[in-house]
Amino acid sequence: MNDPTSAAAAATQAPRRRTFAVISHPDAGKSTLTEALALHARAITSAGAVHGKGDRRGVTSDWMAMEQARGISVTSAVLQFEHRDRVLNLLDTPGHADFSEDTYRVLAAVDCAIMLVDAAKGLEEQTRKLFDVCRHRGVPVITFINKWDRPGREALELLDEIEREFRIQPTPVTWPVGIAGHMTGLIDSRDPDAVLRYTRAPGGERAAEEERLTGEEAAALGEDRDTALEELELLAATGAVHDRETFLAGKTTPVFFGAALSNIGVRLLLDAVVDLAPPPGPRELAAGGHRPVDAEFSGLVFKVQANMDRSHRDRIAFVRVCSGVFERGMTVTRAATGRPFATKYAHSVFGQERSSLELAYPGDVVGLVNAGALTPGDTLYTGKKVEFPPMPTFAPEHFAVARPMDIGKSKQFRRGIAQLDEEGVVQVLISLLRGEQAPVLAAVGPMQYDVVAHRMEHEFGAAVKLEHLPYNLARATDAAGGAALDASRLVHGESMTRVKDGAVLALFPNRWHAGSFEREFPDHPLESLIAAH
Ligand code: G4P
Repeated sequence: MNDPTSAAAAATQAPRRRTFAVISHPDAGKSTLTEALALHARAITSAGAVHGKGDRRGVTSDWMAMEQARGISVTSAVLQFEHRDRVLNLLDTPGHADFSEDTYRVLAAVDCAIMLVDAAKGLEEQTRKLFDVCRHRGVPVITFINKWDRPGREALELLDEIEREFRIQPTPVTWPVGIAGHMTGLIDSRDPDAVLRYTRAPGGERAAEEERLTGEEAAALGEDRDTALEELELLAATGAVHDRETFLAGKTTPVFFGAALSNIGVRLLLDAVVDLAPPPGPRELAAGGHRPVDAEFSGLVFKVQANMDRSHRDRIAFVRVCSGVFERGMTVTRAATGRPFATKYAHSVFGQERSSLELAYPGDVVGLVNAGALTPGDTLYTGKKVEFPPMPTFAPEHFAVARPMDIGKSKQFRRGIAQLDEEGVVQVLISLLRGEQAPVLAAVGPMQYDVVAHRMEHEFGAAVKLEHLPYNLARATDAAGGAALDASRLVHGESMTRVKDGAVLALFPNRWHAGSFEREFPDHPLESLIAAH
């Protein structure tokens, strides 16, 4: 038998993997779709449960208490399942109130995203933000228009909106027969003579039965089917046809319709993940060039979850395997320091099956406990040094001045703030007006402040007071732009310097104020921050 830890094994296993995330606005149906995908495929492991030393589950921590109290999930769980002999890794993108930099960072670890759109609501804010990150990172996007089982907008109108607002061409692969709320089936554009009809079983069964109708049976669907075929033809005539190259280049997005709740269109979407989404490929290196999947082990830390259990101050690092084979117990090197990191005491986040417990291949995600030293963006490797480009920092939308509760603890306070900055929990900004004693903590999501308050008090022994500032928008500018903003009496805003990279940020209450700055000071253009490095 072939050695499962060899380069050849990595080369064979990588093309079997599809690593993806679902991006959506809260309530579009992400949880429902995730469940439907996993049920439809064969779920082989749930990586949500992390085993610590002696099989101690990390679920008894204060962190989890916070999670339970809020009824939200803080952990970026990974669900692994099989479909048509492929291994699918579905990475969760936290939403709702726990939307944070972690939500964005997950997108650094996937090869493809499913953009979930509510048929009645169309494109929404959170989808837009996540889509922007996908675009910047070159992550190809498959679109799933959900909730077609209830009244919604017209299919063509939704495609128009995607094209107009996201500047990406939608290329329908399936098309609904019947308007939203009156759907009888789907036409697969690759098999246009047939109609896939869905019938909900009587007696409250959720999942609808799928039947392939052809000939007279399909024709019997009458006008709805004729309209669907006409619309598909019209779209094809305008060039809205799936094309692998433009999809992988982020110029087009294949579109699928369905209803996750009734399992309508879910199989076709799963097939699309297998057939259209790219497998793990060579990964770009900071120094130029690429790391092929069959090179020695390398992995990217894309998220570090603090375990708030006071007696065990460890952290869990989620690592995406980029090349080679991860074996539990192997010693890897952390590129940032050149120091070895023993995974001997760290347990990989895998499920029940013994065979998958010990090894992970490119595209898989491993959770390492006792990962105190690791931070998001870290590269781990064996053999000759390699390093992936740094994680981008994302546009923060929340800002708060931090001060120590007890002035006698300023040393601990400074140490704690520096550590949280280093880990990427928040971005630390210094304002000329407020000085270094009052750093401003900038975050993508407000929940980061709970994390900051908790960790500052319990881990660093310096409880903090946070004063929230009335800004919600940050743009990049230069020193002169920052000075102009601070001096201006007409524009409401303030400039700050980011400690990590010295970037000058202009903060405004909203877009309107940023707009008036641009009108007032046309010589100091503002730049969007989403992808700033
Ligand atoms: P999220 O994770 O994106 O926030 O969404 P979630 O899956 O929780 O779904 C949000 C609501 O939308 C849920 O209803 C869910 O049942 C419903 N939903 C999801 N997919 C479909 C679909 O294909 N068709 C229809 N008609 N509804 C769908 P809820 O009333 O908020 O929750 P529940 O009481 O049904 O659980």
